[in-house]
Amino acid sequence: MIFESHAHYDDPAFDEDREELLAGMEENGVGRIINVCAEAADISRTIALAERYPFIYGAVGVHPDDADSLNEKVFEEIYRLCFHEKVVAVGEIGLDYHWDKGNHLRQKKWFCSQMEVAREMKLPFIIHSREAAEDTLRLMKELRAGEMSGGVIHCFSYGKEMAREYLSMGLYLGIGGVLTFPNARRLKEVVAYAPLEQLLLETDSPYLAPTPHRGKRNSSLNLPYVAEAIAQIKGVSYEQVVQATEENARRLFTKVK
Ligand code: NI
Repeated sequence: MIFESHAHYDDPAFDEDREELLAGMEENGVGRIINVCAEAADISRTIALAERYPFIYGAVGVHPDDADSLNEKVFEEIYRLCFHEKVVAVGEIGLDYHWDKGNHLRQKKWFCSQMEVAREMKLPFIIHSREAAEDTLRLMKELRAGEMSGGVIHCFSYGKEMAREYLSMGLYLGIGGVLTFPNARRLKEVVAYAPLEQLLLETDSPYLAPTPHRGKRNSSLNLPYVAEAIAQIKGVSYEQVVQATEENARRLFTKVK
């Protein structure tokens, strides 16, 4: 069964048909979904989804774009929710310098604090890193000086050199719809280079729908397009990709049943 390692079904884009869509996941071959929290205000919605659907698990954390709304109270909540039986990771956390709001220091502070929570709770982390390759890697290396539970660089968008750094730390790369885009040469090189044992399937739904649905609302039902693209690049079967990425996800997210 397909293991969807990164989706945002709490997003308002799913308000109209969320229930119907999620009800059809298992019969369409999607066995497990991690709903990843992005904004501080939405943490409870991820928990509600995880409590309602047996096949949905949650990741709690605050996205760097929302670093300004992170405070001690939210931080305490993240920490407390890590004890929840269906919370399996801390995320998504990291650095995003695309919309440079001049809060890089703040982003770094909260990234490190949330990584510390993951470390203490022995939970894996889900990292978002966009246009912040150097800082992310430097912080990761500092943080890795201590003991770390594993993690994934979600929606991996850097080149082979960066991939080598993360793979050598034993981390996973999250691969989604971008791989099917015609201009994804760099990502295709990364997928060819990385061992299948360190790749995870993800959509980042509702964003980043693969070809032929590019530009439309994305959902985990589109993951076969991504798995097929990986299979072609690596010269293995579609089934092998689905099976390997599920095993990888279960190895990383050990609280998933
Ligand atoms: Ni995301």
